[in-house]
Order: sequence, then structure tokens, then C-alpha cells
Amino acid sequence: MIKRIGILTGGGDCPGLNAVIRASVKTAISHYGWEVLGITDGFDGLIIPDRIFKMDLNSVKGILPKGGTILGTSNRGNPFKYPVKKDGKIVTEDKSDEILKNILKLEIDGLIVIGGDGTLNIAYQLYKKGANIVGVPKTIDNDLAKTDYTFGFFTAVNTATDAIDKLHTTAESHHRIMIVEVMGRDAGWIALNSGIAGGADIILIPEIPFNIEKIIEKINERNLKGSHFSIIVVAEGAYEKGKDKHYVEKAKNEGTLPRYGGISNYIASVLSEKTDMEIRTTILGHIQRGGSPTPYDRILASRFGVEVCDLIAQKKFGYMVNLVGTQIISRPIEESISKQKLIDPYGQLVETARRLQISLGD
Ligand code: F6P
Repeated sequence: MIKRIGILTGGGDCPGLNAVIRASVKTAISHYGWEVLGITDGFDGLIIPDRIFKMDLNSVKGILPKGGTILGTSNRGNPFKYPVKKDGKIVTEDKSDEILKNILKLEIDGLIVIGGDGTLNIAYQLYKKGANIVGVPKTIDNDLAKTDYTFGFFTAVNTATDAIDKLHTTAESHHRIMIVEVMGRDAGWIALNSGIAGGADIILIPEIPFNIEKIIEKINERNLKGSHFSIIVVAEGAYEKGKDKHYVEKAKNEGTLPRYGGISNYIASVLSEKTDMEIRTTILGHIQRGGSPTPYDRILASRFGVEVCDLIAQKKFGYMVNLVGTQIISRPIEESISKQKLIDPYGQLVETARRLQISLGD
């Protein structure tokens, strides 16, 4: 018998997290009659469980349009390699047993973990150790395999497209090259989608390493045709053929990831040497992670939040919800985290961009 469930959000936040929390709390309490515990700051909340709180329908009032997560999150603490200070040094410790003990102590019969690849990987390891976990895929990067889309992605694309639209008019007025750097880690989904939606001239994605000469070719071609400005959308993980990616910070320890950033400034510096045009860069950064979710993301997040409760009711632990076509289905968490979903360089979306005469820099 399921009596009490827990909910946590892990990894980088994204628009729609609150919509999932709201849908799960409503379904759990009103439909199933379960108790719900809100676990704060991702898995950290189960290592130091002093801020866990009982959720009721009032806890989720008014949160549907809100960005972020009312539960808090963390993308710096893998419990299997948890950073702790010892003798003035940062070392990592395995805290997974403490999490399992706390789940038992709190009498949580099913735990909903809402997260991206990192968080779901941890969830899967904990499930293998005995935790009753179910998952919900989340990330603005849309790089999780097995689900067509993650919620938060289209809100990020919306934000990026809005920025490209705004940069378009100023680029045209000043006859400038505008370079917009968007997020996405090793996947170019945000760049390709917002680039197409915003009518970019050049889109650079990690899946297709670029050649600076090809970018210059495209800019010159546009100048010859009378378009004395160009919009370049570059994914933070894009890189020049034969060279490294650009980082703002390498991984600090085993439990953390490197942070990408700065590729737009690199391209700007090379282009300013090789062309006579004025160039400006805009790094959109965390603006893409914030704000109110679009209606599409609110609906997807709400559907995930409802369906994930059904997985608990059916005791389908180790499973997560996925969007396939128009249906929400469930699959083992293991399948989603086994591979990253990247753009097929020969796929339809890339071909669409090429037919629209957008250069991919190759
Ligand atoms: O995974 C989501 C994401 O926003 C990536 O697109 C980006 O590279 C990263 O997180 C940034 O992480 P942080 O919030 O730690 O700077």
C-alpha cells in the first residue's frame, strides 16, 4: 500500500518544474489520497533532511505560471561523489546509504525525481540500491534520449527566438554581425530551433563542427546580395573543426560538470580580424532557464506530473515518463540515461535549415 510519497527536483532549474510539482501533488492528494513530502534542494534534502515539509493543496496554489522550483534544486552535489571539506581540502564521499536510510525513516513509499540526465542517473543508481523511485525528464537542453521533448525546452527556445528577433532589427540598422550564444551543453537543439524560428543566417551546433572560412563565405554572399548584416546563432558547445570547446570553468571535482561559454567571443575576435564589419556578441545565459513556462510546457509538465503518480500506484519503480508522439508512455529510467539525444547532422531539421539557405558553418 502506498501511503506517502516524496517529490524532489534536481539539476539545473527550468520553466515548468512547478507545473509538474503542482500536478503530482494534486493527483497524489486528491486522486490517490496519499501524503506528500516536499524534499528541498534535490538529493541534498535527503542527505540533510532538516527542511523536508509536508505538502498540501495550498502548497501548490498559484505556482503553475512560475519559473524555477518551489522545492529548490542543486546541480553540484552527486550523492555518490558528494563534496565534503576534510582537513581544509575538498574530497568526495558516498552518501547514498544515508539517502536510503532517510527514505526509510521518512516512510516514503515512492519518490518522484524530476531531473535531467545527471539527476536521473543518480536516481537510477539509488533505485538499483533499493529506493522506490520514478522519474520525470526535465531540461531546457532537450538532450534526453527516449522522450521526444522535455518540458522547459520550448520556453527556452521562445526566449532565444525573442532575443534573435530583437537583435535582428538593430543588426540591420547598424549593418553589423550579431552573434547570439545560447545554452544546450553538447546538444544544439536550442540553437537550431531558435535559429530557424528567428530567421538566423548562420547556426552553429556542436553536432556539426564549424569552419570559420565558411562563415565568412556566407557573410560575404549576403553582403553581395545587399544584406549588410548577419545573425549568427551559436550553441555554447559548438566548436571549430579540429579545436577544443570553450569553457568558462572546468569540472571542479568528480561530481560536477564543466561549464561551457565564450564561443561567441572567440568567433567575434576571429571575424573582426578577417572582415571589415562591426561585430557584437550577446550571451543569453540563464535568462533561458528562467521565466514563465509557455502553455506547451505547462501542459507537458502537467501531463508528466499526473502520469508519474500512476507509475507509483502501479509500483513501476525504476521507470520514468516519456513523451512519444502525442502520448505519455513509461520506460525504464536506464534507457533514457544510456545515451544523449543529439541532433542528427543528416536529419530533417538540419536539412530544413539548409533549404532555408541557413549556413551550418560547414
Ligand atoms: O543543462 C541545463 C544548462 O542550462 C545548460 O544548458 C548549461 O550549460 C548549464 O545548465 C549551466 O549550468 P549552471 O546553472 O551550473 O551554470
